[in-house]
Amino acid sequence: MKAKRALERARREDLALTFDDVRLQTNYSEVMPDDVNLETRFSRNVGLKIPIVSAAMDTVTEYELAIELAKLGGIGVIHRGLSIKDQASQVARVKHHLNALIERPIFVYDDETISAILQRKEQKKYKFHSFPVVSRKDSGLVGIITGNDFEFCIHNSQLAKEIMTAKPLTAPEGTTLDAAYDIMIGEKKKSLPLVNEKGELCGMYVLTDVKRIKTRSAETYNVDRRNQLRVAAAVGIGEEALERAGELVRNNVDVIVIDTAHGDSIAVTETLKRIKEKYSVDVVVGNISVGNSALRLAEAGADGIKVGQGPGSICTTRRVAGIGRPQVSAVYDCAMAIQKKSYDIPICADGGITSSGDITVAIGAGAYCVMMGSALAGTDESPGKKVFADGRAWKSYRGMGSIGAMEDSKSSRERYLQTRTGKNQLISEGVEGLVPFKGSLSDVVFQYIGGLRRGMGYVGAGTIAELRDKGQFDRITNAGIVESHPHDVKITVEPPNYEVRD
Ligand code: XMP
Repeated sequence: MKAKRALERARREDLALTFDDVRLQTNYSEVMPDDVNLETRFSRNVGLKIPIVSAAMDTVTEYELAIELAKLGGIGVIHRGLSIKDQASQVARVKHHLNALIERPIFVYDDETISAILQRKEQKKYKFHSFPVVSRKDSGLVGIITGNDFEFCIHNSQLAKEIMTAKPLTAPEGTTLDAAYDIMIGEKKKSLPLVNEKGELCGMYVLTDVKRIKTRSAETYNVDRRNQLRVAAAVGIGEEALERAGELVRNNVDVIVIDTAHGDSIAVTETLKRIKEKYSVDVVVGNISVGNSALRLAEAGADGIKVGQGPGSICTTRRVAGIGRPQVSAVYDCAMAIQKKSYDIPICADGGITSSGDITVAIGAGAYCVMMGSALAGTDESPGKKVFADGRAWKSYRGMGSIGAMEDSKSSRERYLQTRTGKNQLISEGVEGLVPFKGSLSDVVFQYIGGLRRGMGYVGAGTIAELRDKGQFDRITNAGIVESHPHDVKITVEPPNYEVRD
């Protein structure tokens, strides 16, 4: 990445700049926006197909949003306001959403009643309808129950063995995805259990998933080497973080994010070293805003670094504590420090993204990807509540350092180092509020990515790496900011990618 002249000059004056202070300069371009390659990385070994990561916040990322975002090419970070068990099970739901080979299929026993099976299906919220049937006596696969069998079952007191299709079509352990696809298509079967030499169930293929992979309709999906959707999850510090990380790793999480308000601290670096010693998983650490902090985290073994202290839409840290650094300079300083020492560690710019142009700017300043909270909190898939006010729909969105979030969860109090504080003595570093309801995540992400593509076209950058390298900025004045927005016109139609503010 080349040095950025405007940001270097500002640095020499101890002046820190943020999104509205700068715009990227255009260049001669042979790049068509639709042809740019948006692939990048969240951490040393974990890739992204689009540079978007969702925030580890209780009104932004749970499994539903993480699934949809991974399908669009990004990654979601499941928040840590959940119990260890609940967070791990959310990770498992993302990992099992799309399966090439289901290694441990959910099965039923031959002597179970249909009502017991349906009750379990309801309790565990299984969305699928096919269950291999295993003999209670010798653990061998004896049949399969499909959606049809459930529908034609007259009495729920019947046993699985009475309604199952006995001796179903199977394939041997080790059957490849391609071979399974051919068998399922040839035999018109929607699922294919695999059995070992002893006749025991040892895997299963499901046609819908296999087909998606084979026909490449899953081309945008951000998947691991087993074709499972990628997902990250947040932990805090100390013993609890170690225990949490263990459970997350057991459920095949792709990235652990040590999620703190101040990443450059002994508690964080110790936790990072212990997680890296104990588990083989990428760890992204944050948040920081200074180059030397980035170097300390790199030396301690971070696989990714999250930058942002106070830029977030719900943050009051800068007002409350008097600290923090405007985001574009923070990202640049950290990216340059890492580059100077030749570390291969991606920087994620966390917080403060209010338009697609901010993503282009963050990457132009050195980020590999951006983390977004408010921009994604208003979608169908976020866990926040939908409310109606002032004639329109909204969704709730709150800072993890808000009084509400800290009262609700010990993890939030820990993020802001207030575990020893009494409940009515909390010092908040965030607010609680509403964001406009925006519909589906895919429509929202489409607009953000569309804007980024256009920006890359103007800069002449065909890849994210080129944008990081080529991006040069002009510092702009207040007059420039006014000119950058629509002016001298009464807007009558709000476009999908520009929010008209009063
Ligand atoms: P945006 O601007 O995308 O920011 O809504 C999301 C990021 O803000 C951080 N965050 C907080 N920062 N007080 C803070 O100072 C808070 O209460 C708070 N909650 C979240 C976090 O890094 C998130 O990704």
